Amino acid sequence: MFMHHSRNRPTGQQPRYLASTAVLLVEVIKLVASLIIAIHDTCKSHPSSSPSEITGLVRRAVFASDSWKLIVPAALYTLQNSLVYTAISNLDAVTFQVTYQLKILTTVLFSILLLGTYISARQWLSLVLLTCGVALVQVAGPLGSETWKDKLTSLIQGDVALLAPASSAARGLMAVIAAALISGLTCVYFEKLLKDSLGSVSLWTRNVQLSFFSLFPALFIGVLWQDGAAVAREGFFSGYNSFVWLTIALQAFGGLVVAVCIAYAGNVAKNFAASLSIVVSYAATAVLFRAPMTMPATGGAATVLLAMYMYHSRPPPKTLLLPLSKER
Ligand code: C5P
Repeated sequence: MFMHHSRNRPTGQQPRYLASTAVLLVEVIKLVASLIIAIHDTCKSHPSSSPSEITGLVRRAVFASDSWKLIVPAALYTLQNSLVYTAISNLDAVTFQVTYQLKILTTVLFSILLLGTYISARQWLSLVLLTCGVALVQVAGPLGSETWKDKLTSLIQGDVALLAPASSAARGLMAVIAAALISGLTCVYFEKLLKDSLGSVSLWTRNVQLSFFSLFPALFIGVLWQDGAAVAREGFFSGYNSFVWLTIALQAFGGLVVAVCIAYAGNVAKNFAASLSIVVSYAATAVLFRAPMTMPATGGAATVLLAMYMYHSRPPPKTLLLPLSKER
């Protein structure tokens, strides 16, 4: 929501900020935050070490021989983050959110391929239900119904000004589908890296490595190559205001929360949590702002809860009791 509103300001206001500069700043904030946590953890595990010894320990952990493994996810996440900006600048917030839920399915697909996760038929069904439920809450909820009502009205009245141009919508749609695919692949790759190092490399060291390697594509490909001319013409911070800074801070905080989710709960649980947050915000909007609750949206919310129950509960055993002879 914040991203969408920060990118799509009413005409006549100050110019749009450059998405590439925001992507770079998010990585800088995450790098600094992760580094502070990594230093704090090292201080706690080596209480008698001097500051220079702590610096040496953190530096050796960050630039260890296997740190290059983070180059691939860093490049992919940077691409995903700029695709999300492209998508959100060309689509309405609801269409973006609904299509982005495809990442629930792509994550499971890559979990099977890369982590060998077993997904039962019941769990597959629950994942499909989850995707549909979240989509329904988005489309039929207060925000969705307004957006879609506006679209329908403009279609009926032949007022095409409210509708995004087809080329821009197609561009946005392609960007969000690609972002969902990359999200699935990269999150699972990151989870695999954490599992493979068997706790010997801390999450925050991995995150420092991830943000460090993300700085290169974000700076050289995004800011300099893609938007170099605009940065030289208008300046790096052109179009920035406090709302844009808040959006950047939320993005950085969200990224760190995603990292913690992947490390301690796994990717599938992370996506379930994200879906549940959509349901919670639907209910909160109804309670706090007295927005009307619609039957389809409430049905969607119930479907999400059912899907969560189905995914995490075990099917009843086929035989409840052992034959008497065996029990003896
Ligand atoms: O769930 P989703 O794929 O959309 O979240 C990915 C986001 O989380 C990206 O913005 C990525 O940069 C961030 N992330 C992070 N640190 C990680 C894993 C993901 O900042 N360890």
